[in-house]
Amino acid sequence: MTDYVNIALPKGRLGEKAYALFERIGFACPDILEENRRLIFENEANRVRYFWAKPADVAIYVERGAADIGVVGKDILLEQEPDVYELLDLGIGKCRMAVAGPRGADRRTDRTLRVATKFPNIARNYYASQSREIEIIKLNGSIEIAPLVELSDVIVDIVETGKTLKENGLEPLADVVPISARLIANKAGYRFKHRRIESMLEQMRALVAEN
Ligand code: PRP
Repeated sequence: MTDYVNIALPKGRLGEKAYALFERIGFACPDILEENRRLIFENEANRVRYFWAKPADVAIYVERGAADIGVVGKDILLEQEPDVYELLDLGIGKCRMAVAGPRGADRRTDRTLRVATKFPNIARNYYASQSREIEIIKLNGSIEIAPLVELSDVIVDIVETGKTLKENGLEPLADVVPISARLIANKAGYRFKHRRIESMLEQMRALVAEN
């Protein structure tokens, strides 16, 4: 059991891209590509076990050692600040965290700016760095609705193509931080399974540099 490397991947398109990278460095697990609803897959031949976790839960599995390594967006690392090693920028899942809203919405100064977001820590840190007082309205998704129905003045959210903003009549107002997927490791697991994780990391680093 203990010589398996347990890998938490974010369920969805990013996880599939991440799995493709692991496959290319020799950690295939063919069962994972079958159409079914299983969540854990292992390959005895190369001693890897993959879990499909909710993207926001990957760092929890890794921090607590249920997974040795994982793939997670920088947005989640900045928001949750888990106690893990961030090993590598995988160069996939690229997007940006931005302030958005109706044109000029961030310039109003007559009252405290109301900011709707799924990322309250990122938003708080960003506005603290600007010495600006704000009120956070924590939502769980479809954040773009908030300024449209006057729940908030602006949003702090992920922008990838900009299509969601555009189709809802909103504009990017300021960039907060660029985002991409990161390879992370459990601190104890990294020491305990050092040889295997380090060799995976070296191969992954070479592959990412090629891309
Ligand atoms: C994300 C994000 C934006 C959208 C940005 O939402 O919150 O709404 O994607 O992508 P775009 O710039 O390419 O349009 P997601 O679909 O993950 O769902 P959510 O609304 O639940 O956050």
